[in-house]
Amino acid sequence: MTTIDRQRLTSLLEQESQRFRAEHPKSWNLYQRAQNSLLAGVPMNWMVRWAGSFPVFVTEARGAHFQCVDGRDYIDFCLGDTGAMTGHSPQAAVEAISRQLQRGITFMLPTEDSIWVGEEMQRRFGLKYWQTTLTATDANRFALRLARHITNRPYVLVFNYCYHGTVDETFCTLNHGVPGPRPGSIGPQVNPATTTRVIEWNNLAALESALAPGDIACVLAEPVMTNIGIIHPEPGYHDALRALTRKTGTLLIIDETHTICTGPGGYTRAYNLQPDMLTIGKPIGSGIPAGVYGFSQEVADRVSASTNINDADVGGIGGTLAGNALSLAAVRATLTHVLTQVAFDHMIPLALRWTDGVQAVIQEFGLPWVVNRLGCRAEYWFCPQTPRNGGDAEAVVDFELDRYMHLAALNRGILMTPFHNMALMSPETTDSDVDRHTRVFREVVKQLIG
Ligand SMILES: Cc1ncc(COP(=O)(O)O)c(C=O)c1O
Repeated sequence: MTTIDRQRLTSLLEQESQRFRAEHPKSWNLYQRAQNSLLAGVPMNWMVRWAGSFPVFVTEARGAHFQCVDGRDYIDFCLGDTGAMTGHSPQAAVEAISRQLQRGITFMLPTEDSIWVGEEMQRRFGLKYWQTTLTATDANRFALRLARHITNRPYVLVFNYCYHGTVDETFCTLNHGVPGPRPGSIGPQVNPATTTRVIEWNNLAALESALAPGDIACVLAEPVMTNIGIIHPEPGYHDALRALTRKTGTLLIIDETHTICTGPGGYTRAYNLQPDMLTIGKPIGSGIPAGVYGFSQEVADRVSASTNINDADVGGIGGTLAGNALSLAAVRATLTHVLTQVAFDHMIPLALRWTDGVQAVIQEFGLPWVVNRLGCRAEYWFCPQTPRNGGDAEAVVDFELDRYMHLAALNRGILMTPFHNMALMSPETTDSDVDRHTRVFREVVKQLIG
């Protein structure tokens, strides 16, 4: 097996950094200007984590490509970390969004589009009732609150190194086996161990014993972990998760925000999962902020029986702009015209092509790396086998190698999803975009191996 020469890696990373700096003078200047008004020179703190020493400033984007202020074109495999999985500004959605922009944006009153969205969500995911939010984070926050409310139980259960948005209760990890704030967690309101139980994904014994005391309101899970890398459930895991949650009266909330990459009804529809609640956001409005959460008939009955309409605005659920006309017009157009079965029939084979290309290079160079895929999302890891759970995945993160692969790709016109080596296909990504990635991947690996 080929090993990475760390000295060579450090010096290549330095070379790529210099090249990046030299080739992006306008982004550099904007970044300098931004230092005077934006904290750390970026409008949102995660944007400091790109592999270069400053972010690329975008001028425009269309489909699977975008251009930066320095006049460079990029193939976008990050796609706004799924927010633009539809491709940038898909025409049909843009038309509907533009029409709605002319006819009022937010009313705190419903439009007919909201019913269409409820009906379509029902058709796609099987759950009966729906509510809207502006983000997937809010959908998860509200789902957790309702789960606690109707079960009258204090805890939620999440999986080690999950990510469900900036939801306080979910920032709980096992630190040497002890639950507590996730490393890097900022000012946790309370130690999340007081609200949350956390276990490793794919560990049935741990699940069984966590649920046994009957004090957990709900399990919140991505059906396949995606945020610490793609980690599939082992065979039978979902059946057991459903059976154990039912047996202990624990609600099961499935977060499809990323796993919508599996198909039009997400992993839930593709694998016939039967959650009590389901949450999703990001791409459903083609980038216009929108999220939804759905409930089974039984959960809806329990919610109705335990809430009072006079308190609707003070219960801690909802938001002034949630359910606004613009977001719902965007969701309707996106689900009608963009994230369709036809689109997935195009996107999933592209992810297979991407995976095959990467696999061939890994083999050619004898690297101890592995490539993994879920629907139209794929990624490679710097370890010989896909980790089985979040803790194992966190342990194999190679920060420097990660930065090198990202930055070398960016310098060659390819944007990967930050924080891991993930690529997402849009309805407008092409074979030639994918083949370009394979060539670039080979070139940067070859440079690394020498
Ligand atoms: C699975 C999952 N759920 C929820 C969210 C939160 O999405 P947002 O930041 O748009 O609220 C994310 C964000 O990455 C996510 O990956």
